[in-house]
Amino acid sequence: MTALRDVKYRYLAWVVPIVAVVAVAWFRPASVSATEQQDAATAQVLLGRNIVITRDCAGCHGGTDPASPGWLDGVRSPFQEFPIGPCYVTPGAQPCFHTRPRNLTPDNATGLGRFTERQIFNALRFGLRPEDTPDVEITGTTPGKGNFPANPHYLAPPMPWPAWRHMSDVELKAIAAYLKRGLKPSVNKVLDSEGPPDFWASEYTVEKIGAMKTPAFPTALENRPKK
Ligand code: HEC
Repeated sequence: MTALRDVKYRYLAWVVPIVAVVAVAWFRPASVSATEQQDAATAQVLLGRNIVITRDCAGCHGGTDPASPGWLDGVRSPFQEFPIGPCYVTPGAQPCFHTRPRNLTPDNATGLGRFTERQIFNALRFGLRPEDTPDVEITGTTPGKGNFPANPHYLAPPMPWPAWRHMSDVELKAIAAYLKRGLKPSVNKVLDSEGPPDFWASEYTVEKIGAMKTPAFPTALENRPKK
């Protein structure tokens, strides 16, 4: 009997640790990575939320803070529309286009719900209307090249995309994540903006909005700080 118990004991001495190691290797990373993924998703959405608040997207797209009615769900009154063109200075002067900040909540019919995060990213990086933007990575800025649409439909002024396209990939993806996953859908149909037949292409030239790549620091107008 003693001999038998010894054999059994010795057997367990190496089986138990192996089972334990395998069990830990098998189960632990899965549960940890699920939590990590959740944390990463929340962190991304919170970064997007912070950018949206500090860049005052709501100043045009509606609401005053994330607890206020109409938060980011678009124009609700003609007073929130923008007259663009000579009428901006002289009421009644022509041409006069009315542009309307859209519903940015993830409602499928009236907001960004039907667009992917990549289409929203493309809208912010390249100023392209999400509905006319292919759901692909865009690698160029010349129309017709690198997946850039041959006839781009740019987002109407005063949407400040010419400035915000310079945010990092991480920042723009975080904004898209917040708009799609961090907001509840709100139904508010915003009428299409008006605009010239070229969809503002003549307003968004390199001469008028600068190059996609910012000039190297320091330019002639800037200083490198002294140590
Ligand atoms: C100064 C006003 C203004 C501000 C500030 C502004 N937007 Fe806009 N935005 C507009 C207007 C106007 C449109 C409509 C453009 C059009 O119809 O072509 C628009 C359209 C959009 C669209 C396209 C929606 C669609 O369905 O076509 C997105 C996405 C967007 N804005 C995101 C943002 C984000 C994110 C911010 C903040 C980082 C922001 N906007 C801040 C004016 C603004």
